[in-house]
Amino acid sequence: MAKSKQVYVCSNCGADSPRWMGKCPSCGEWNTLEEKTLLVKETKVSQMLVGDQGLVKLGNVDVTQNKKVTTTFSELDVALGGGLVDGQVVLVSGEPGIGKSTLLLQLAVNISQQGIKCLYVSGEESAQQVSGRAARIYPKGEYKELQFLLTSTVDKVFATVQDNDFDLVIFDSIQTISDDDVVGVPGGMAQVKAVAAKMVSLAKQSGFRLLIVGHINKDGDIAGPKVLEHLVDTVLRFEGERDGLYRVVRAVKNRFGGTGEVGILEMTGVGMRDVDLAQGVFAGGGEGEVGAVKTVAFEGNRPIVVQVQALVGRTVFPYPKRVAEGVPISRLQLICAILERYAKISLTEYDVYVRTAGGYSLESATSDLAVAAAIVSAFHQLPVGPDVLCVGELGLSGRLFLPNMYHDRLKSVSKYGIKRLVSVAGLSLKGVKLLPVGYVGEIVSALR
Ligand code: TYD
Ligand code: MG
Repeated sequence: MAKSKQVYVCSNCGADSPRWMGKCPSCGEWNTLEEKTLLVKETKVSQMLVGDQGLVKLGNVDVTQNKKVTTTFSELDVALGGGLVDGQVVLVSGEPGIGKSTLLLQLAVNISQQGIKCLYVSGEESAQQVSGRAARIYPKGEYKELQFLLTSTVDKVFATVQDNDFDLVIFDSIQTISDDDVVGVPGGMAQVKAVAAKMVSLAKQSGFRLLIVGHINKDGDIAGPKVLEHLVDTVLRFEGERDGLYRVVRAVKNRFGGTGEVGILEMTGVGMRDVDLAQGVFAGGGEGEVGAVKTVAFEGNRPIVVQVQALVGRTVFPYPKRVAEGVPISRLQLICAILERYAKISLTEYDVYVRTAGGYSLESATSDLAVAAAIVSAFHQLPVGPDVLCVGELGLSGRLFLPNMYHDRLKSVSKYGIKRLVSVAGLSLKGVKLLPVGYVGEIVSALR
């Protein structure tokens, strides 16, 4: 149902406000708000989704339709929990330049070669740009049939998708395609919500797989309203350093699979490709170093060995610096406080920098011990062998612990050349010597 609505739209930036104001609250310009009457089609959340199905017995529901189709990237399949199901809507988020468009273009090219009808919609890049990217990666014969649409309005996409029976649609990006029925700048709250709602409801009705690109803002959140994440089935987040080689794709929400899994991909001169985890791409070099300690990130069912690096140096600032990349800064501050109090390492006059190899994001507290050990190693100039792995969470009393669920998962680490394990007492791993640590003050003796 359409209804009319009075709004005041800024002629400078396009932001809208329900009241007239002398100064635009968005861009700060004076006297730019003009009154407009709009016909607004109300989209209710219930309309955005699958619609009504009536009363059914769950036992009679056919679940075989949920067959997963491979994305043709085994690492992406791992993150998605096997592939893409009919009607699945995936939001692919990440910083500009991280490789979202490249990966999705490759996915579309590879999938279309299997006879699956794909459409690549772009609101930000022309056919020349996108086909230039495809030409960089594939011989022309491999992508020539892929359908492409450049548009800035969602209704055009809607009509194109309805007229053609596509099985997979890439929507690049939610911030650059807008809905003419709704006021507001493209990429703004109202627009993102309306565009996503239209596309999601169409995907759910028609059963095509929809991959939506979403840029992220400075804080690492998906630009736009939180409702966007609720509307989609799956949210994939691209992590890693834009200038680095490796990209981690993490499922932060998934209605069709688990969320713990990550996929690792590599950006090459000719597109993205799967990375073999056994290569240990985040494990750092093979030499024993000062301030470099390995730990393991337990992502779903696969352990990923990650090197943590620390630099400790006398400060020249009034307050010593604490800089962390790949580890939350609050975690680093906490570990410094624990070391200070319980390991008698006075860091008050020292700057502490911590990073992870390849910018891998260590989210679990089981990497605390490795962070602490890297700082201890850097502070005492104590080299740590490349065959040493540190795993455990530090309590506020300086005590080390490791939840039982991780004991089993540690079994496969010997595959990565690990011969010594610094962790809680009582662990037993074949071919790996345990160097037990009960509390943070014992790290130095375990490393010596
Ligand atoms: P892009 O996919 O455009 O990123 P996003 O859509 O997330 O903004 O990636 C752009 C970067 O990737 C750019 O810096 C060029 C680089 N790149 C490669 O290194 N190899 C390639 O084969 C391609 C196509 C791009
Ligand atoms: Mg892009």
